[in-house]
Amino acid sequence: MTPTASPRHLVHLGDLEQSELEDWIELSLSIKRSGAAPALPGRSLGMLFFRGSLRTRTSFEAAVNQLGGHAINMSAASDFWDLEAREGVVMDGRAPEHIRDAAAVLSSYVDALAIRPAPAGHSWELDRRDEGIHAWAMHARVPVINMESALWHPLQALADTMTMRESLGALAGRKLAIVWSHAPEPSSPAVVHSLLVAAARFGMNVSVAHPTGYELDGEVIRRAKNAAETSGGTVEFTSEREAAAKGAHVVYARSWRSIEHYGNTTLAASQRSRTAGWSVDEALMKLGEDARFMHAMPIRRNLEVTDEVLDGPRSLTLTQAENRLHSQKAVLTRLLGR
Ligand code: CP
Repeated sequence: MTPTASPRHLVHLGDLEQSELEDWIELSLSIKRSGAAPALPGRSLGMLFFRGSLRTRTSFEAAVNQLGGHAINMSAASDFWDLEAREGVVMDGRAPEHIRDAAAVLSSYVDALAIRPAPAGHSWELDRRDEGIHAWAMHARVPVINMESALWHPLQALADTMTMRESLGALAGRKLAIVWSHAPEPSSPAVVHSLLVAAARFGMNVSVAHPTGYELDGEVIRRAKNAAETSGGTVEFTSEREAAAKGAHVVYARSWRSIEHYGNTTLAASQRSRTAGWSVDEALMKLGEDARFMHAMPIRRNLEVTDEVLDGPRSLTLTQAENRLHSQKAVLTRLLGR
């Protein structure tokens, strides 16, 4: 409600210097250990969901409330309408309001805005521009937080990095295997993009295994490789799950859409039908170095991972989900705390 001259946004983790990222992770761990100071009395967070969420919505709302603030949740399915992101267009389509106007109005009510956009899903070239979240960041007079766009999921990567730090200690030199998993409705690659770059920044040796045709975004790969060069980590890609899992300290499963056939549901389904073996089981986990299992959830049991692994002693999935609460308190404290 009291906008700053140039608000600080969190669209992706590239918005944070390495020292800030480390500080945010340390604060997240400290909040989990010792609790958080009530940093948000009298402050409000507006949350706009253009598609569904279980963890992000609940953990963020709980975090704001536990910090003494107030969260206002709005869903595009029930509370508002399509919003136009493009500049200079004649608005004779579905959207009756422009993000420019909605952002200006909401900035006069709340102290920060958290947005989960809904990518159109027709063209990767268009969706990867993340025009929706960038439009909010451009027009809001308060901090804008990305709750998962087409390209990035910074909040998940913060919780994942915190979880790995909590479980493994120092991350430099540890091996992270990111393993594509089969699911009938794969997600966007946003979770994996953010995780890949974050892990590379912390000096991890990242091996990404996926079937041919599921290559990640080229610009994201370039960022990850640059980060690894700076940190002393490595980034490699393989089509062999076993090669990625061998010697891994963490096996992270995720199903993501093919960028190659993005928007073509027929070709994408046909391509996916040839990937049935891509699942994580005990045999794969045993190739690791006392490997932990991670997944951002929601997760399809006995398709992406066996019950034995998911419910087993090395599964960190529930810790990851819990850590969303602690790490988002850290985000709110650093962006809004007094
Ligand atoms: N991992 C994650 O972002 O979960 P939700 O989609 O339920 O928010």
